[in-house]
Amino acid sequence: MALVGLVGWRGMVGSVLMDRMRAENDFALIEPVFFSTSNVGGAAPAELVKNETQLQDAYDIAALKRCDIVLTCQGGDYTTEVFPKLRAAGWNGHWIDAASTLRMNPDAVIVLDPVNLPVIQNALANGGRNWIGGNCTVSCMLMGVGALYKAGLVEWMSTQTYQAASGGGAQHMRELLTQYGTLNAEVRSLLDDPKSAILEIDRKVIAKQRALTPEETANFGVPLGGSLIPWIDKDLGNGQSKEEWKGMAETNKILGQGEGFGSPAVPVDGFCVRVGAMRCHSQALTFKLKREVPVADIEAMIAADNEWVKVVPNTREATLRDLTPVAVTGTMTIPVGRIRSLAMGPEYIGAFTIGDQLLWGAAEPLRRMLRILLE
Ligand code: HSE
Repeated sequence: MALVGLVGWRGMVGSVLMDRMRAENDFALIEPVFFSTSNVGGAAPAELVKNETQLQDAYDIAALKRCDIVLTCQGGDYTTEVFPKLRAAGWNGHWIDAASTLRMNPDAVIVLDPVNLPVIQNALANGGRNWIGGNCTVSCMLMGVGALYKAGLVEWMSTQTYQAASGGGAQHMRELLTQYGTLNAEVRSLLDDPKSAILEIDRKVIAKQRALTPEETANFGVPLGGSLIPWIDKDLGNGQSKEEWKGMAETNKILGQGEGFGSPAVPVDGFCVRVGAMRCHSQALTFKLKREVPVADIEAMIAADNEWVKVVPNTREATLRDLTPVAVTGTMTIPVGRIRSLAMGPEYIGAFTIGDQLLWGAAEPLRRMLRILLE
């Protein structure tokens, strides 16, 4: 039975991963070794272990070297420090990683098997050992509309994202909710009085937002509750945020096209925006297709692509019921709705899609890659 080292399994993404692995009975197929950065020698989760009952040191190269597969959600700093040492020590096992550190390395595959199983299989056949989860926004988008890319229909795509607090991390989610509470508390007595003036409430809210302390905005840097932030991740210095850059770079790499694959990359660009949602990333997509395709055919292609995508009829009622972060959170469903022809011309199609950023956006592609390696 494969010895699988689990690192970062207690964090937010790691906990979602553990839940999914339990739900899919993955532990029946592996001998798990639980690693820790803070509680070495402690007890591993009793209900999941077989022989490896103690938490191992996540920085102990010799301990990691014993594993056939290492699956980490520990984060980029950990990968940067440990991965090169482990490979330098001669370890030839499979490294599965949620962090972005290794994603664009030529010897790494961004794993999203419902979309790119052939790319994964090809890399496996050629001795591939590094399997990296994609950017959450890109993975959720491709789970929804990957069919159009697979069919070679996309000339270019523009995406405008509405990204949840969870993309920043657990502390960001807490900060968002604390800000909502602070703002509510500021005007609660006025809200309780149906005759109070809305502009008075509005004045007090904006004054409070602008007066939030550095501690109250420590994670996002500025207020997010009742506002939005049209910049995610680093400033690349060319007018683009790193999150926006990932849209094109990772979409093409996942699909096995563009730089390094000897075929042209499909242009993907747009604006990535943080909004006050909890853990679902939403995206409004504009496609320029290579040829005119009837909307009904596009809907049928999307619906048939994988078992998780769900086409939401482009009606107000269905959209409000099925196409919101509240409807999607905690589910594996990837709804794609608002599919329609746009006024720019017959080859222009609009769509709106949502995905749980912690499930398809982070944990699920990793555990599915583990399963592929165990086959
Ligand atoms: N960069 C993403 C975000 C996290 O900030 O929402 C998922 O890759």
